[in-house]
Amino acid sequence: MRLNAYMARAGIASRRKADELIKAGRVSVNGAVGQLNTFVEGKDRVAVDGREIAPQALAYVLLHKPAGVVTTARDPHGRPTVVGLVEHTSRVVPVGRLDADTTGAILLTNDGELAHRLAHPKYEVEKVYEAEVEGEPSDDALRRLAGGVELEDGPTAPARARRLGRSKVELVIHEGRNRQVKRMCDAVGHPVRRLHRTRYAGLTVEGLQPGDWRELTSEEVATLVAATRTR
Ligand code: URA
Repeated sequence: MRLNAYMARAGIASRRKADELIKAGRVSVNGAVGQLNTFVEGKDRVAVDGREIAPQALAYVLLHKPAGVVTTARDPHGRPTVVGLVEHTSRVVPVGRLDADTTGAILLTNDGELAHRLAHPKYEVEKVYEAEVEGEPSDDALRRLAGGVELEDGPTAPARARRLGRSKVELVIHEGRNRQVKRMCDAVGHPVRRLHRTRYAGLTVEGLQPGDWRELTSEEVATLVAATRTR
């Protein structure tokens, strides 16, 4: 793997920060100064400022994200982050984003390859949301949500939409555009008051209190890997 990916896996820094360390000449591979295009394998000895580093095992974590927590690694406003909530020995980062006020299932991992695939529209990972909305959506509004609504960045792909209560809908989507559910509900005249993701790629937060997390089982990891296999 590339030197920056190896360093990220070792929990040293993000790939971007790793590149800075490499450019500054602080990273050595088998005693020689590492370059941005250096590739390394398990047998190679990598050191930062002379201290040897080793890649961490791959880790996969499912978090029940509470409201008020941001999905970025660091928040300029000092709000808590999902990374801060998950005190894992491996440096796991979130796959995709939930808005600060959205609650529910979010996956964190240090498996950059899987994260990249899961976030790619090509693999159409299923996301299930429960939205409490203003007003009482009609059958027609639900049909419009399911059929695709026009947003400023283009029409949404077909989705599934069903009523869970007078002002509560379940939306199943495969895209992951910025604020997509809120914008879809806005577009049919029912702004979202509260948004919860019940399911991400088949993983649910059942049994997890807000703020709690758990490791995925090896079967769950295998299912994710299978779901993102190149077609
Ligand atoms: N759609 C939204 O509008 N917000 C989220 O957090 C997730 C999906």
